Amino acid sequence: MAMPETIDPSDGPITLVIFGASGDLTRRKLIPALASLHSKGRLPPNLNILGVARSDMGDAEFHTLLEEFLGGDGMSKPTPDQWAEFTSRIHYIHGDVTKAEDIAEVKRKLAEIEGDGRDGNRLYYLSLAPSLYQPAITGLGDAGMADDANCWRRLVVEKPFGTDLASARELNDIAHSVFREDQVFRIDHYLGKETVQNLLVFRFANAIFEPVWNRNYIDHVQITVSETLRIDERGEYYDQTGIMRDMFQNHLLQLLTLVAMEPPHAFEAEALRNEKVKVLSAIRRIHAEDVGRHAIPGQYRSYRDETGVSPDSETATYAALRLHVDNWRWQGVPFYLRSGKALRSKSTEIIIQFRNPPHMLFPLAEDEDIPANTLAIFVQPDEGFQLEFQTKTPEAGLQMRKAELEFHYHEAFSGQAIPDAYERLLLDALNGDASLFTRADEIEQAWGIVDPIIAGLDLPQAPRPYYYSEGSWGPVEADRFLGSDGRAWLQGGRAR
Ligand code: BG6
Repeated sequence: MAMPETIDPSDGPITLVIFGASGDLTRRKLIPALASLHSKGRLPPNLNILGVARSDMGDAEFHTLLEEFLGGDGMSKPTPDQWAEFTSRIHYIHGDVTKAEDIAEVKRKLAEIEGDGRDGNRLYYLSLAPSLYQPAITGLGDAGMADDANCWRRLVVEKPFGTDLASARELNDIAHSVFREDQVFRIDHYLGKETVQNLLVFRFANAIFEPVWNRNYIDHVQITVSETLRIDERGEYYDQTGIMRDMFQNHLLQLLTLVAMEPPHAFEAEALRNEKVKVLSAIRRIHAEDVGRHAIPGQYRSYRDETGVSPDSETATYAALRLHVDNWRWQGVPFYLRSGKALRSKSTEIIIQFRNPPHMLFPLAEDEDIPANTLAIFVQPDEGFQLEFQTKTPEAGLQMRKAELEFHYHEAFSGQAIPDAYERLLLDALNGDASLFTRADEIEQAWGIVDPIIAGLDLPQAPRPYYYSEGSWGPVEADRFLGSDGRAWLQGGRAR
């Protein structure tokens, strides 16, 4: 994670070219993140932004279009002066990425922005519908816009990166026919979240956790990404996609790799990603015919009434999944993953449940079981950690009670807002630091894990999605699923 200060203005002009510049992602995330960085003085001074989209409009109209979501999601809102200064660097050109003559116009406009005939450094950001990734990449290649002999040229590709292993491979091949792998930055915005990065600091900058971070001390791991959001206006996309592609293939598997990986030898992109790939390749593949034993699909009750959703849709909006990592560190330790829409609360938590002490010295009542130690890592909201352990209740003989050691970011770093993931990722891509971006082989491994699960859920013998009420914690079958392993879902370390 290099610092933005490493960008040297004498390296020449930098242009961030956003294809799909009038779309939702650009307006809700990219521009607010860039404006936030600008108002904190963290953008390189030699950076310009060129928006490309199909609508015909001028720069001023484009700037107005970008104003709506500034300062959202905890990002710093620029003052009117800062906004005016920032928009003086934002240009617009209309064009269709599938047309060679329009790409040629973009090239001409870039030469105008970059000035003095120098080869400018460029970050091409595909904030486009996935069906346009391929024509955009080949268009850039055909126009000679990936050549980086005297400058750097990079490509950022948003998710979804493919819809299965075959399409991800095809997209990787297309990207590699124009760009080298070190020029390609595939986004998984979960990796840009501050607490996700802190998980690595927590594990590898402290000596006390690593010795117990294995099968000898850990009973199991739970990773929960719950959302209150419904499908809203994304019905058409979502009904084709489902929870496995939308959340598991990327975000949940990424979180799992960071929990399970071996310490990399250095904190740099290749070392880090090599370790993540090793974890993904060690995940035991689930055969399509066995999916019913390892996964619980769910669907919120009113899902089929959503606009764009088929009235007899069997798309899962929830899933719980048990995975195993077949290596020395994790043999026999299940990883339970779950995620869903329209659930009770929005939170992302990783819970490490440790084993019980091998022998209990203290008297327990009949049927009493003391809860094992847990470490909860809260990724969002209320970012922080919580370790639970047993203490003696005063003046109550040897009666025990659970107590917590807690760390909350907002208390420890009061007044310091946690930056949005896109702020981190945009700066890293401008710096050429690919640590928090997924590599080609990583994406393919992740698809290799979820493809048979998706195929299995479509088989006639697989469970149909179980209904769950909006605002609940998902289908009761997911509780039974863990119950049959002798375990229960935990919330903030506590059984709910
Ligand atoms: C996106 C998914 O990648 O992540 C959305 O497509 C989901 O369906 C979103 O809502 C969740 O991200 P976050 O940062 O709000 O947890």
